[in-house]
Amino acid sequence: MSSDANPHAAWKRAAAYAAVELVTDGMIVGIGTGSTATFAIHALADRMRAGLRVLGIPSSDRSAVLATSLGIPLTTFADHPRIDVTIDGADEVERGTLNLIKGHGGALLREKIVAVASRRLAIIVDGTKLVDRLGERSAVPVEVVSFGWEATRGRLEALGATVDLRRSADGKPFCTDNGNRILDCRFGPIADPARLEEQIGRIVGVVECGLFVGIADVVFIGDAAGVTRLERSPGPSAGR
Ligand code: A5P
Repeated sequence: MSSDANPHAAWKRAAAYAAVELVTDGMIVGIGTGSTATFAIHALADRMRAGLRVLGIPSSDRSAVLATSLGIPLTTFADHPRIDVTIDGADEVERGTLNLIKGHGGALLREKIVAVASRRLAIIVDGTKLVDRLGERSAVPVEVVSFGWEATRGRLEALGATVDLRRSADGKPFCTDNGNRILDCRFGPIADPARLEEQIGRIVGVVECGLFVGIADVVFIGDAAGVTRLERSPGPSAGR
């Protein structure tokens, strides 16, 4: 599909290429997952062909495969426990706070591990992902261990969510890179994402949830007007 027929793809691409300008020689780069992050992987590969030297830490098996196929060398937390900058997509970005919902690609656990290990988290989205309140449009993906997931679902429902077990295209339960299930939890607009993240995190069987509160440092938003850059106001960074 051409970018004229699908302007969202052009907006994602523009945001991705702008964010990759943050990368400088010698950096350890966290590599995100999803259609927007895919543009960033291509942008990074383009810059490497022009001489940039970096090492990447991918947030999913599929991003690892793509990065490797484009000649981006990878490393691990064993060798580099700190990441200089991570560039990743998001499903919703809350105006003002830059809090996020992530994980509709199913990579939320590794994405959060990579994000909190990063000195800087840059998020790349098209303009349709901006919301006034998280949860307005998207469910919150929650990664849970498969054992007893039905009981875990009940506890998430008790928090007020409508919960669906995510399935793959073949109808089978979706399996994450970590061998877990995803429960998509629809809460509607979320008044206090930090509190909800804490409540979800306390449920036995939950591995991680897709609320990213106080973690994003900068968001690049592509839309018909170009790319806008939003910076989070200074303050403590969650988990870092
Ligand atoms: C992957 O698990 C996600 O967190 C993605 O970053 C998010 O779903 C955004 O995906 P797109 O860039 O494909 O919209």
